[in-house]
Amino acid sequence: MTVTIVGSQLGDEGKGALVDRWGGDADVVVRYQGGDNAGHTVVEGGEEYKLSLVPSGAVRGTIGVLGNGCVVNPRTLFSEIDGLRERGLDPDVRVARRAHVILPYHRVLDGIEEAGKADDDSGVEVGTTGRGIGPTYEDKAGRRGVRIGDLLDPDVLRDRLEYAVSHNRAVAEGVYGLDVSDSEHAEAFDVDALFEEFSKVGERLADDGMTVNCSDFLHRRREAGDRILFEGAQGTSIDVDHGNYPFVTSSNPTAGGAAVGSGLGVTTVGSGEVVGIVKAYLSRVGAGPMPTELDGDDREESLADDIREKGGEFGTVTGRPRRIGWLDLPMLRHASRVSGFTGVAINHVDVLAGLEELRVCVGYELDGERIDTVPTTTQRWERCEPVYREFDTWSEVDWTAVAAEGYEALPEATRTYVEFVAEETDAAVYAVGVGPDREETIELANPFETSDA
Ligand code: IMP
Repeated sequence: MTVTIVGSQLGDEGKGALVDRWGGDADVVVRYQGGDNAGHTVVEGGEEYKLSLVPSGAVRGTIGVLGNGCVVNPRTLFSEIDGLRERGLDPDVRVARRAHVILPYHRVLDGIEEAGKADDDSGVEVGTTGRGIGPTYEDKAGRRGVRIGDLLDPDVLRDRLEYAVSHNRAVAEGVYGLDVSDSEHAEAFDVDALFEEFSKVGERLADDGMTVNCSDFLHRRREAGDRILFEGAQGTSIDVDHGNYPFVTSSNPTAGGAAVGSGLGVTTVGSGEVVGIVKAYLSRVGAGPMPTELDGDDREESLADDIREKGGEFGTVTGRPRRIGWLDLPMLRHASRVSGFTGVAINHVDVLAGLEELRVCVGYELDGERIDTVPTTTQRWERCEPVYREFDTWSEVDWTAVAAEGYEALPEATRTYVEFVAEETDAAVYAVGVGPDREETIELANPFETSDA
């Protein structure tokens, strides 16, 4: 039985809270794409854990797997594992030997490419997290990447590094004019220094028995009757194939990524549940169109400021303030189709309490035509004017008490809003988030209980 959790919007939908909640019913939690660009905050008994790579389930003692579709920065991996240990937890994390390694030069390249785009004012700066995600996936597709399995064999590691470093150094120098040996980044391109550090990483991974053949490992666990939860990172609109290209991340957060990025078949993933996580409004960190953005005038900007403050809308990884907008249904319809949602969880409805007005974008006007899904090009999306439907607002209530009582205790206007979203995405409501703590999620159905896969 599998449950796949997918971000329906632009990332930061509050997936961590649901992964954490349902991860407790899983035996294995698998990340299938991305790397330490993800930021998951898990609150457990008043304790807050900020994780960017280790699967959130680790807070609960579930086995966490970083699948072959992930890009893994070993420095982040060990610092998060060590940090959790210092706080008394004992995370069991396995890493696919086919996953790719983020090396220090990938971060340097991420930074200089973004800086170059910003300098020439071309408008193509993505606003990446600077974690080296794009350059690592580029090396993977370019067949010059270093995989976790390569770290375990010093001869192979040296060979891979010799080739990859010379290529990436040539790019840094030739394309970006970086004088590598004379810069603060010299070590990042030094084969000997890299070999020294990363062969030790390989030793620690081997000593701790952390590496797995992901497909085989998960297949066996499934045969043994284990429940597997796939933890998507980022969101549909920044998927490299289905998102707002080029303002995207370099992997597939959508549900198909769970099969490719783990080595379990599409029939296995598809016969389980696929739950889209929706934030009750929209936030975006990084560049790109956002038709419903609240930035038109002072009143909208002050509304965005209020929502940002109340919702804590600052990047978990970068601390950047997030852009804020009304809920965008064309995005959600697209997300539901691409991943095949069976259910949705709608988060942060508490943040919208007490507003004077509440709007949902139900379609767009594009060049005089009404459309109901996201156009395929950024240029067309940029020209879209949102068509809004007004909703009744709801007042501030004691959300903890509401969460304890259950769905029927939600204000009627909130239920109308939630049910409208579910209807438009053609999926059942599985949960409603009314606050950050695990107890502040109202569960209508547990996908592990509804799935007979
Ligand atoms: P990258 O993944 O660091 O290459 O960044 C590419 C784009 O994805 C940028 O717009 C980032 O802000 C965005 N992004 C990456 N990870 C996340 C995330 O976890 N939440 C929200 N946006 C993200």
